[in-house]
Amino acid sequence: MTPNPRGVYLVRPIFGVQVPLFSILTLFPDAVEPYLGASILGIAREKGLADYLCVDFRDFARDRHRTVDDRPFGGGPGMVLRPEPIAACVEWLEREHGPFRKLALCPAGKPFRQPLAEELSKTERVLLLCGRYEGYDQRLLDELAFETVSLGDYVLSGGELGAMAITEAAVRLIPGVLGDDRSANEDSFHGGGGLDHPHYTRPRVWRERAVPRVLFSGNHESIREWRAERAQERTIERRPDLADNEN
Ligand SMILES: C[S@@+](CC[C@H](N)C(=O)[O-])C[C@H]1O[C@@H](n2cnc3c(N)ncnc32)[C@H](O)[C@@H]1O
Repeated sequence: MTPNPRGVYLVRPIFGVQVPLFSILTLFPDAVEPYLGASILGIAREKGLADYLCVDFRDFARDRHRTVDDRPFGGGPGMVLRPEPIAACVEWLEREHGPFRKLALCPAGKPFRQPLAEELSKTERVLLLCGRYEGYDQRLLDELAFETVSLGDYVLSGGELGAMAITEAAVRLIPGVLGDDRSANEDSFHGGGGLDHPHYTRPRVWRERAVPRVLFSGNHESIREWRAERAQERTIERRPDLADNEN
């Protein structure tokens, strides 16, 4: 079969340098592609620091109707994604580009957290599979050794929002993507840590609410201490589960 994927190379490796490639397999590339070209993801692409490939796995269905789903064995509502078109799509991608770290978006997966974003930002090739309907035939996940990852304890209609969230969480950590690389190091959850401190900007007083005085002191050590204390307070109050990880 000669696949005719709708994949779009947004950026080619510059000067032969391989940049991290995020490949999103979806039935709705039109929903995903604009996001990959906007804001931080678009900037990363323009700077040649990341590359994206969005593929409609329906293009790998072999029948006349381009079928990707079927009724569940055992009965019940909804449809299940058949394994063959997705497997053909993944295998085509791996032949073209080499092996990928393969993640399938799935409510039953491992919760997506910052340490995984940090790992993915250093991974050469990441494949994100977006489910639909009742999800995937389990044999596909087992056969192709997919890791499963969840965005949270709620159910969406598809994996696209999760794939975009994971791509953005990882790409913004690639050195050079953000205007100031320190931003990512000071964000919530960095290195498995707790929450960020509160932020303030102009005006100094707004609706009788004044910015804390220490932030005008010019004393960098006092400001650093104040921020660390506020971050710790917030973490203990709002996310005691994370406070346990702090040293
Ligand atoms: C309607 S959901 C399938 C729900 C599945 N029957 C269940 O209860 O676990 C369809 C697709 O949306 C995506 N999805 C929905 N919620 C998700 C979540 N919390 N995290 C990651 N992916 C999710 C997955 O790709 C899933 O295959």
